[in-house]
Amino acid sequence: MTAQIDLTKLGQHSSPSTMSTETARSTQRQAKAIAAHGIQMIFQTGSQAYQALQNINLEVDAGDVHLLMGPSGSGKTTLLSILAGILTPSGGNVHLLNQDITRLSRSQLAQFRLHNIGFIFQGFNLFPALSALENVTLALTMKGAKERPARQRALDLLNQVGLADKASSPPRELSGGAKAASGRSPVPSLATRP
Ligand SMILES: Nc1ncnc2c1ncn2[C@@H]1O[C@H](COP(=O)(O)OP(=O)(O)O)[C@@H](O)[C@H]1O
Ligand SMILES: [Mg+2]
Repeated sequence: MTAQIDLTKLGQHSSPSTMSTETARSTQRQAKAIAAHGIQMIFQTGSQAYQALQNINLEVDAGDVHLLMGPSGSGKTTLLSILAGILTPSGGNVHLLNQDITRLSRSQLAQFRLHNIGFIFQGFNLFPALSALENVTLALTMKGAKERPARQRALDLLNQVGLADKASSPPRELSGGAKAASGRSPVPSLATRP
């Protein structure tokens, strides 16, 4: 990611050194939902090392909505993956909900993602052999819910996003064409937060 990316500027702008006193005070009162500092990512492919991210700083308050913009190959997916605990950065740290996720083990990280992070993937990333209902139910049972209440909750959640009639459909029938509106609904993230 290079200097012309908006996010880099945003990160610098909200870094502690440029924060106003008022902002600094409110930061002390309420922890940031996301606080990433000095993020670096170096991909090693064979003998070649490629630096995809260099010193990215970013702070996000709870309830804020951000757009991450930049040309293809500028590191958007890499950064999002790091902020979501899918990739571990080569340097820097990521605090989510006041916890440094770069210090968690792989299994702790998987638990953290399960309970705190909802993903809306472009390509769904659903289990193709399971119905929409079964996909959402599975995420709930993985979080410790019993099968029966999980199924009921999954149905309620699908209903809330207008997908109740697609409950028994496999993921391939949820996307494309005239069904786009319902098909692109955030099924995989439902179990975390609808
Ligand atoms: N696993 C990887 N191994 C090597 N290089 C990678 C890997 N993932 C991404 N890259 C490289 O890092 C850069 C940023 O990629 P990416 O985050 O996918 O960009 P964007 O999402 O902004 O298009 C690109 O040059 C890409 O080729
Ligand atoms: Mg991308």
